[in-house]
Amino acid sequence: MKNLFTKAFAVILALVLMLGVLPVCFAADDGTTAKSLRFGSDGRLRIMHITDTHLSADNIDDSVWLIGLACDREKPDVIMLTGDITMADTVEETCRRIDLLMNVFEQRNIPVAVTFGNHDSESGVISREDLMAYYNTFNCSISVDDGELLPGCGTYNIPVLGYDSDDIKFNLWVFDSGDYDSEDHYANVLEQQVQWYTEKSEELENTRGEKVYSLAFQHIIVPEVYEALKQVKLKGAYTYEHIYNKGEYYQFDPNVENRGMLHEYPCPGYYNHGQFEAMAQRGDVLALFTGHDHSNAFSVRYKNIDITNSLSTRYNADAFSTNYGYRMIFIDENETDKYETKVVHWYDFFDSDYTVQLMKAHDEHINKVHEIRFLGFFEKAAREIGIFFVQMFTGRTVRYPD
Ligand SMILES: [Fe+2]
Repeated sequence: MKNLFTKAFAVILALVLMLGVLPVCFAADDGTTAKSLRFGSDGRLRIMHITDTHLSADNIDDSVWLIGLACDREKPDVIMLTGDITMADTVEETCRRIDLLMNVFEQRNIPVAVTFGNHDSESGVISREDLMAYYNTFNCSISVDDGELLPGCGTYNIPVLGYDSDDIKFNLWVFDSGDYDSEDHYANVLEQQVQWYTEKSEELENTRGEKVYSLAFQHIIVPEVYEALKQVKLKGAYTYEHIYNKGEYYQFDPNVENRGMLHEYPCPGYYNHGQFEAMAQRGDVLALFTGHDHSNAFSVRYKNIDITNSLSTRYNADAFSTNYGYRMIFIDENETDKYETKVVHWYDFFDSDYTVQLMKAHDEHINKVHEIRFLGFFEKAAREIGIFFVQMFTGRTVRYPD
C-alpha cells in the first residue's frame, strides 16, 4: 500500500511538473524560481513565525484550530514555517497532517515559506525533497530549493518588493539547517550554503545599488548563541549547562541587548561552518529566527545580529503547553534597517475582549477557549511567581520585554 501510494504520488508529481502547474509567480534574475512578496499598501510586511508544531494524533486538532485563529487575528502577509512540523510512520499519515495544516493557510490565501528541521524526514518514510514537493502542491506555498547542488532541501531567499515598484526593498533568507552530523550531533548550515548566501547577498546589493536588509529563518540556532550569553561558574535559576561543553553554565549577559527569556539550553549544531560569521561580515541580516528549542522565546544581540528563538507552535491540553505560541515580526518599507517583533503565548491569546468576541460568534470551540484560559492562568501564574522570586533573591534579570 505504501509503495503504491509513493508510486502514485511520484506519477502525479511528475505530471504536475510536466504540465507546469506548480505555482511559480516570480522568476529571479538568475533563473531560479524564488517567489517574491510585496509590502502592503500600508507599507508593512507582517510575518508570522510558526515552528516545531510536531503535529501528532494528540495535538493536531487543537494546534491547527489555534493556528487558524491566530491567522484570523494577526492577518499575516506570510508564514515562515521552520521545521519539525510533523513526523509520522507512513507517507499517507504525514501527508494527511500536512494537508490539515496547509489548508489553514490555503483557505486564507496566506503565502507559506517552509524549510525543515531535524525530525521532518527522520522516520525515513519520506525524503526532504518529496516533502518539499508535497508542500508545493498547495498554491499558497512559496517554498523552493535553490540549487540542487546545495546540501539539504529548502535553502532559498524571498525578495520583498516595494508596494508600488518592483524594486527589491527587503529580503527573507530561508536555510535548511539539516538534521544530524555523522557523529549524531545536531547539524548546522554547511559551507556550500554559506557560500551561496554570500554570493546571493552580494548580488542583491549590486542589483539594488545598496545593501538589502533582511531576516533569516531556519530550524537550528547558530553556535554563536553561547558567545552572546554569559558563562558563569555554577548552575542556578535560568542558568543552563552548555549542550556540548559539560561543566560550562550560561545565562543572559546583562551587558548585551536581550529580549524575552531563556527557558532551556540552546541546541545548535556541534560544528560551526561559518554561517553567522558570514552574515556578520555582510551586515545585511538584522535577525536570525530559529525554533528547535521549544520553550525558548528570547533574543540576544551579537555582532549587530539578533540571534532569536521562537516557541513551539502547538497546543496539547494534556501536556501543559499554554506557554507555547507563535511570533509576529513587522517590517516597514520606509525603515528596512529595523523591525519589530512580539511573542504571543497561548496563555495570553484568549484575552477577555477576544473571548467575548468569540462567544458572540457562538464559536463551537468555546469550551476549548475556556480550557486554555483556565490552564493558561495556572501556567502563567506559576511562571510569573518563579520569575519574581528569582529576580528578587538574585537581583538578576531573567526576563526582558519581548
Ligand atoms: Fe528540532
